[in-house]
Amino acid sequence: MTTYKSTSKTIDPNPEREGEPTGLSAIIEPVSKEIAAVEQYLETNLIDDNPFVSELLGQIFKAGGKRIRVAIALLCSRATNKKDAEFSRLHIILAVLTELIHAASLVHDDVIDTAATRRGQETINKRWNDRVAVLMGDLLFAQASICLSRIMNPVVVGIYGQVLGDLCSGELRQMRNQFSTVVDWDGYLQKSINKTASLFAAGSHSGAILNSQPDNVVASLKSYGLNLGLVFQLVDDLLDITGTSAELGKPAGGDLRSGVITAPALFILERNDSISEQLKQLIKTRAVTTEEGNAEALSLIRTHGGVEKTVELCANYARLSKENLVVLPSSQFKDSLEKLVDFIITRTT
Ligand code: FPP
Ligand code: MG
Repeated sequence: MTTYKSTSKTIDPNPEREGEPTGLSAIIEPVSKEIAAVEQYLETNLIDDNPFVSELLGQIFKAGGKRIRVAIALLCSRATNKKDAEFSRLHIILAVLTELIHAASLVHDDVIDTAATRRGQETINKRWNDRVAVLMGDLLFAQASICLSRIMNPVVVGIYGQVLGDLCSGELRQMRNQFSTVVDWDGYLQKSINKTASLFAAGSHSGAILNSQPDNVVASLKSYGLNLGLVFQLVDDLLDITGTSAELGKPAGGDLRSGVITAPALFILERNDSISEQLKQLIKTRAVTTEEGNAEALSLIRTHGGVEKTVELCANYARLSKENLVVLPSSQFKDSLEKLVDFIITRTT
């Protein structure tokens, strides 16, 4: 597992240099054709005879989403594709599979979290009910397993099987630790790897396996995905503290409200002083579930360095993920993978 101790490095406030593209669409431009193929697959290949299922599929995939995992799978596949080799349909299916697992896990997650909104629109469980959402999540997992069978690579089957286990075990660990004020960094990082980074890593190194790349390249791309996934989850945890509900498309402060203690809060809890004691009490007494208590906890975290320290931790993982790319030959795909790190660390939604 990667280390969590931060270095003195801080986030570059201007990650995009002059003349270089800004924004996600410019970063993913080198794989825009492949992304269009993924979208087409999601729109046409998942059609079900049942119009209700088709309506639900439409709601899930038309709700947007940044398709970050799709971009990672396609860029890493392209960056390790042998010269002149035609880009295989298998890599498109790999990206579809990664997005399907992501979408399915969010549909189930919204049931677990009793979430009413995601990406600014009503969740399946809110608009219909939990039973519909559980079955829809299962249907998406089933579609993902069909994709896996089409890829016909036992190593990739094992990788994605592990991801499914990791997702469940991350959620279970999070549930088990609700409202716990014990500072357990390893547990927090392991949960973040299981919940998020594991799927990033599957997408980042499976394409290299399909391209018969040597072990060191496969291993480095796996680490790239793991480190980037940690950055993604840390930024998610940060935005829950600093963002507004309008920006997030879901209520802010939700993690604390549901007793999920993330990095910004852990940095305060580990102080062992009156500030950490105040936060501890707000969590232990469940005051964080009330409007005032939640606001008080958020303010404690914001005003006592929880945000800045988390930003530093993010910057450390971002640096590590960029270092992992050193094994790749120069290409526009490698450049995009590097810029994706800057995009994820500076994202606000
Ligand atoms: C979002 O977390 C949720 C995840 C990253 C993964 C959730 C995984 C499961 C529910 C298990 C999936 C089930 C199977 C069978 C593999 P969050 O609640 O922190 O983020 P949010 O604010 O976007 O909801
Ligand atoms: Mg959730």
